[in-house]
Amino acid sequence: MTIVGMQALGYFPGMRILFLNGPNLNMLGRREPGIYGSMTLKDIQEQVTDYGENHGASIEFRQSNSEADLVTWIQQAQEDADAVVINAAAYTHTSIALRDAIAAIQTPVIEIHLSNIHAREEFRHRSMIAAVCVGQISGFGHNSYFLGLQAAMALAQSQAGQSG
Ligand code: DQA
Repeated sequence: MTIVGMQALGYFPGMRILFLNGPNLNMLGRREPGIYGSMTLKDIQEQVTDYGENHGASIEFRQSNSEADLVTWIQQAQEDADAVVINAAAYTHTSIALRDAIAAIQTPVIEIHLSNIHAREEFRHRSMIAAVCVGQISGFGHNSYFLGLQAAMALAQSQAGQSG
């Protein structure tokens, strides 16, 4: 039987997935809970790390309010990670620097958002990073992080399939 799609997740133990979080995401849980939910970033990190580790991946979470930190971490992901899942928060809508950093590396990057940015204010509809990411997950609350993880694992799997 051929196993396809998500059923085959977890076949690549040791896969390194880096979650990057942008400005104000350290305030999750307290910040506009009607939009962003009541879980803290630490709660999400713990659950996503458990899930990822149970599927053989190694998960790292970072958060910064500084655009410069995020640019540096994206650059380093070329060596440090097999896939990046990024919630660039407000920098999504403004940062050419983040876009250029993502375009500069070969490591695949997946864009995620807790809220559906396309259903909100017009200035959130445009993502500066979308075109250089593999894809975008937006609007599933904390589950956007789990979906981002699954997308990262599926990507690594198809890349490993292509190279071997
Ligand atoms: C966000 C959406 C952005 O528009 C906003 O600036 C954020 C969070 C989200 O996860 O829904 O800070 O990225």
